[in-house]
Parts: sequence; structure tokens; C-alpha cells
Amino acid sequence: MYGRRCEGKQKGLRNAAKIVGFVLFLLVVGTVAYVVAKQISSKYQAPSSYPSQAPTLKPLPPQVQAYAWMREDSSNDPGKKTPQAQALEWFLEDPYFETYSDVRIRQRLSMATFYFATGEWRQHTGWANWTLHECGWFSKKATGACDDMDQMIHLALSDNDLEGTIPPELFWLTNLQTVNLFGNRIDGVIPSEFGLLTDLTSIDLSGNSFTGVIPGSLSQLESLTELYLESNQLTGHIPAWLGSMSLEYLRLKGNKFRGIIPDAVCPIQSFSIDCTAEIFGCDC
Ligand SMILES: *[C@@H]1O[C@H](CO)[C@@H](O)[C@H](O)[C@H]1NC(C)=O
Repeated sequence: MYGRRCEGKQKGLRNAAKIVGFVLFLLVVGTVAYVVAKQISSKYQAPSSYPSQAPTLKPLPPQVQAYAWMREDSSNDPGKKTPQAQALEWFLEDPYFETYSDVRIRQRLSMATFYFATGEWRQHTGWANWTLHECGWFSKKATGACDDMDQMIHLALSDNDLEGTIPPELFWLTNLQTVNLFGNRIDGVIPSEFGLLTDLTSIDLSGNSFTGVIPGSLSQLESLTELYLESNQLTGHIPAWLGSMSLEYLRLKGNKFRGIIPDAVCPIQSFSIDCTAEIFGCDC
């Protein structure tokens, strides 16, 4: 009786051992399978940076963080890049952009924005070309566009099929001494930012399609001796402050000015204006 019970107990223990052994076997096999599977899957897994959703804009390198706003699409036509966005994109594609100083980054972005904003130029050799220093980009100034510090001092692009409006970024070129955009198809108002370029001695915007008035900010240009605004669509009165500047040349023919020519303007050495039914005063 006792023996049988004992035998039954031993049989039960053997069965229990078998079950435990089997469970352990399953655990070992499972663990090994899990580890192997994990290694294989990690070997073939896509890199963790792989975009899982729609691509977003890449973070900007530190050199151009300050210009992040340039790539915002502020145009009314989504899908059409702004000249600012085009310029920043162009700049970042340059394999050597990290070698430029902050001053040159600003100069190159300014000039590239101006270039992308003003249509298909007749002559544009070098403009927005990475491999060329921006001082070597096409200019009609025989002596070159820059001073010996490599800062742009002459914007000389007359008769060159420029069209559209002047972007505000052009006025980052604060060393400009002469601006000659004679004979293009530039429209919009004459930007008041011209008043920021206090080294200017000569502005020639003749033969374009500028509208609006002569901006009051020009009165701040103490070195300006030449102001050519002939053959545009300018309106309003002739401001008397033009006579308080250092102007030697003031050419205003071919516009839509009206009113009295201020006495202060009359002594300007080379002053010209059309005498129409709407204009009164000296020279008319
Ligand atoms: C950029 O300038 C280099 C050097 O003058 C010239 O070889 C190259 O063709 C120009 N690239 C473009 C796109 O005009």
C-alpha cells in the first residue's frame, strides 16, 4: 500500500520534472530565438532619422540662423518660391558656405535676392555662381563693383532687362556709393530705404517705371550730388528739401510731377524738368 502510493508519488514527481524541463526548454529556445531575431532586425532596421512623416525643413546651420525668416513663403502664390527663399537655398547649396564671414554671407544673400527678384537679366555672368566672389559678378562699372575691402560700392546694371520691384534686402549693401539702374523695367515706389545708404553720391533710376513720390528719406543723403529720375511715372510735388542737399544734378523730366518748383531747387547747377501745364516756377 505504502509502496504503491510511493511509486505513484515518484511517477508524479517524474511527470512534474518532465513538465518543468519542457517549460525550461521552451524558455531557453524562446530566449535564444528572441535574441537572434532582435539582432537580425536591428541589423536591417532603417536609420532612426529616416522621416516617418512628411519631410519638414532641415534645421539651418548656425551661420545663417539669423536669416531663417527668408525661407518663409510669404508669396500669394504657394509653390512659387520668394526671391529670399531662392537666395537662401542657393546659398546653402554652396559647398563652401561655411568658409564665409558674416559680412560676406550678408552681401551674397543681399545680391542673390536682388538677382532672383528682378527677372531674366540680359547680362548676368557670375551672378549667383558659387565659384565666384560676388565682387566679380557682372557689373557695368569698369573699375569693378567693390572697394579694396571687398565691399560692394557700385551697383551698375543699366540697360540690362531688370524688371519687377527692388527687394528690401538690396539695402543691406550699406557701403554703396553709386546705384545705376538706368534703362530697365523696374516698377513700384522708389524704396525709402535708399535713405539708409548714406555713402551714396549718385542715384540713377532714369528710364524705368517707378511710381509714387520722391521719398523724403533721400533728404538724409548728405553726399548725394547726382539724382537722375527722368522718364518714370513719378507723381506729387517737387520737394523743397532737394535744394538743401549737395545736389549738382537733378533730372526730373518725363514724369507726372505737378505744382510749384520751390525756389530752393532753382540754384541746382544742372536741374531739368518738363514744363507742363501743371508745373510752375523757375526753368518754366
Ligand atoms: C561659374 O563660374 C565658373 C568660373 O568662371 C564657370 O566655369 C562656371 O561655368 C560658372 N557656372 C555657371 C552655372 O555659370
